[in-house]
Amino acid sequence: MQGDHMVTVRPSGVSFAVTSGETVFAAAARAGLLWPTICGGNGNCGTCCSQIIDGRDGCLPIGEHEFETLSTVLRAPTDGSRRLACQLRIETDVTVQRRGVRPRPLTAECEELL
Ligand code: FES
Repeated sequence: MQGDHMVTVRPSGVSFAVTSGETVFAAAARAGLLWPTICGGNGNCGTCCSQIIDGRDGCLPIGEHEFETLSTVLRAPTDGSRRLACQLRIETDVTVQRRGVRPRPLTAECEELL
């Protein structure tokens, strides 16, 4: 799709497309991936925090809420090297580091069908 950008996640190697205006976290969910979270993608818990490996210049700036969570909840750098996936919007392909990002397991109901 036009306007899509790809996110590649290390170390799992999964990748998925992010549409314009969509967060990385939302795009991952749409692609059937689990991204570690406690707050459900509301920018409060910091659990989705990821290291930006490539494409930092194509990440939209850190907003006020993300800044607050990064600095007060996580005490993480706010220089753009760490970002909350649930707040992160991109305008280029990026590679991030976040352990635990993986395909959503099949439900028990689905397993029974196989
Ligand atoms: S999922 Fe909680 S801050 Fe991103």
